[in-house]
Amino acid sequence: LDRQPFHGRHQAGIVTPQPAAALFVALDVLAEDRGELARLFRILTERLAFLTVGGPVPPRDPRLPPADSGILGPQVLPDNLTGTLAVGASLFDDRYGLAAARPRRLRPMERFPNDSLDARLCQGDLLLQLCANTPETNLHALRDLIRSTPGLVALRWKLEGMLPPHVVKRAGVDTVRNFLGFKDGTANLDARDEALMRRRVWVAPGSGEPAWAADGSYQVVRIIRNMVERWDRTPLGEQERIIGRHKDSGAPLGETREHALPDYAGDPHGTRTPLDAHIRLANPRTAETETSLMLRRGYNYSAGITASGQLDMGLLFVCFQADLDAGFVAVQSRLNGEPLEEYIKPVGGGYFFALPGVREPGGFLGQGLL
Ligand code: HEM
Repeated sequence: LDRQPFHGRHQAGIVTPQPAAALFVALDVLAEDRGELARLFRILTERLAFLTVGGPVPPRDPRLPPADSGILGPQVLPDNLTGTLAVGASLFDDRYGLAAARPRRLRPMERFPNDSLDARLCQGDLLLQLCANTPETNLHALRDLIRSTPGLVALRWKLEGMLPPHVVKRAGVDTVRNFLGFKDGTANLDARDEALMRRRVWVAPGSGEPAWAADGSYQVVRIIRNMVERWDRTPLGEQERIIGRHKDSGAPLGETREHALPDYAGDPHGTRTPLDAHIRLANPRTAETETSLMLRRGYNYSAGITASGQLDMGLLFVCFQADLDAGFVAVQSRLNGEPLEEYIKPVGGGYFFALPGVREPGGFLGQGLL
């Protein structure tokens, strides 16, 4: 398994398994008009279709800059690459006359109480998510896309993410550890469950969204710094009560199997799982909160040292949902004030809308929008 199909009803990189390396880059569009914007989308589509399939790089001419950066050598291998393009609310301002086409819930990301947002790490007209087995493949793709779109885009922010490389992580099946040392993904939705994905992840025709948005999905990215120095000095029992799971096994508190279901109805006072434990607030497992289920697809990140001399690392939280407010916003609102906040600080990210897929060669990303 090292090649993800480019064409399809949905873009790859949403319900497809997660390879170990990711690169998120937000772009601002410099296109002068709608025609130029369409040209940009066509170029991005054509390059991503090539990069995800791979092939030989064009012949070189010593008088010209090489047509490929060369960092993967003369043969581009697919390496499980997916490129997923999403649009931000700012693309729908008056520049391109797209205001009426804006997905209904799409807006600039609001500030939640625990956020300490750095404007240099927020928002963007476009978000490109590149995932592959290796960081080199993502960087090669990024350089290819930048070289192919001169004058059409400006880089806004970029962050690379990683997962332990021993699995290509299937949502709802595999779990790997985050930088707090806990298993991540245990209770995630099973991305193979197509009926569930239709209900909770994909925008359906007739859902009140513009017709072009069907088969797309709201994508939320949150750059959440983890205060790992403080966490590493916190007693294990407290860490486990904050999350609501055992650190080694990943099982709910009081259970031994990772995938055992927590019994909140039988624990109304939070004797076993505190009422404010992360997993209990995120998903209280009641009939009323079923609508807030989301597909998480995050990565760990490590980016250097903060101004105050601490490690700058944490979670590049990513989730997809058919309804931004019923999904992410509802869950984050329940999490506001959770004890985990003492150890995490959201510093960037944005709200985006991942475009529907390109069904056939010849079509292009965003075609329905333009
Ligand atoms: C579950 C960590 C931020 C939503 C979990 C789990 C851990 C975890 C260890 C349990 C394993 C699992 O089911 O994946 C973290 C950390 C965060 C963070 C370290 C920040 C750095 C968020 C945010 C949201 C969120 C921002 C959404 C707004 C969820 C959900 C679950 C979950 C929905 C599944 C709960 C369940 O169904 O039982 N998280 N999380 N998390 N988290 Fe987070």
